[in-house]
Amino acid sequence: MHTPPTGLYEAPLPADWPEPEALGFGRILGPYLAHAQHGEDSGWHAPTVSARSALSVPVAGGGLQYGFSVFEGLKAYRDADGRIHLFRPRDHARRLQQSAQRLVMPEPPEEVFMTLCQLAVQVHARYVPPFGRGSLYLRPTLYAEEDALGFRPATRHRLAVAVTPCSDPLPKSQRLWAETELIRAAPGGLGAAKTGGNYAAGLAGQMRARANGFDDVVWLDALTHREIAEAGTMNLFVQIGDEVVTPPLDGTILAGITRDSVLRLLHADGVRVSEHRITLDELAAAGMAGQLGTAFGVGTAARLVTISEISDGTTAIRFRDTGLAARLYERLKQVQEGATHALREWRV
Ligand code: COI
Repeated sequence: MHTPPTGLYEAPLPADWPEPEALGFGRILGPYLAHAQHGEDSGWHAPTVSARSALSVPVAGGGLQYGFSVFEGLKAYRDADGRIHLFRPRDHARRLQQSAQRLVMPEPPEEVFMTLCQLAVQVHARYVPPFGRGSLYLRPTLYAEEDALGFRPATRHRLAVAVTPCSDPLPKSQRLWAETELIRAAPGGLGAAKTGGNYAAGLAGQMRARANGFDDVVWLDALTHREIAEAGTMNLFVQIGDEVVTPPLDGTILAGITRDSVLRLLHADGVRVSEHRITLDELAAAGMAGQLGTAFGVGTAARLVTISEISDGTTAIRFRDTGLAARLYERLKQVQEGATHALREWRV
């Protein structure tokens, strides 16, 4: 593991550190950033650690002006022996490269990504909650750092990893609003890239869902406005008959690492899973035929949220709790926290 630069010690906890169960998400930020600069001519510079307040983002630069910024979200867990591991960091590194490629930014090599994540965890080791009580969420962010307004690829970028300790997300159930006017992503667009604009554009959908009395939004495809795509900041799964279906990665959907973990856990359990397009009307028909089982959304921050209903204001599709979501939530939690020897290769 990389040795932190001299003069840096393990970050002190804030005086008002709450119980791990009450941390929530994103409320407390670790005081340091692990970061590395990339120059067009000089390539990737050596990773280092600074106080979070020491880095500034140029206002007149491509990061803020044109949205040249992509990020990842991954978690570090403490196992029962107190050791800390990252969950599937190399998969996150690869996805960051794909996001960077789409936005014409330099692709961080896997080892740069890994070193920065390890450094960020090392200096914030005290911020990793005890076993079973939460995790340290890492937010590696690649952004254009050049102070220049020209609309072209920047010559200087930085990859910086911020951290926030968070509570273990509780299993919960949500009612979702299928948004038929606003869209999140279109074919050929940015839907598969993890970039801020997708989240900023999605907030209006979430607000409309809440105004209609729902917990969150279901995004539909841009062409027919009938196919389900994603739920809020999560990937969607629905159980129809003896099969679990999730929309395919067609470039409009974020390739969730938790989505992939769930697909692999379902396969391992012998559950029939398939990735194909599915419309609200097909779901409604399956409901009428008594074939609808559980639906759930998955993501790194949320882990797994059961969905009891999806409605577009005209058609209400109600799902049945078959126990599948609760079982998967527990499996996922065990694998992520290292409470089982299964799938060790996912923990670094
Ligand atoms: C994640 O689940 O990692 C996300 O990026 C969602 C974020 C908006 C909290």
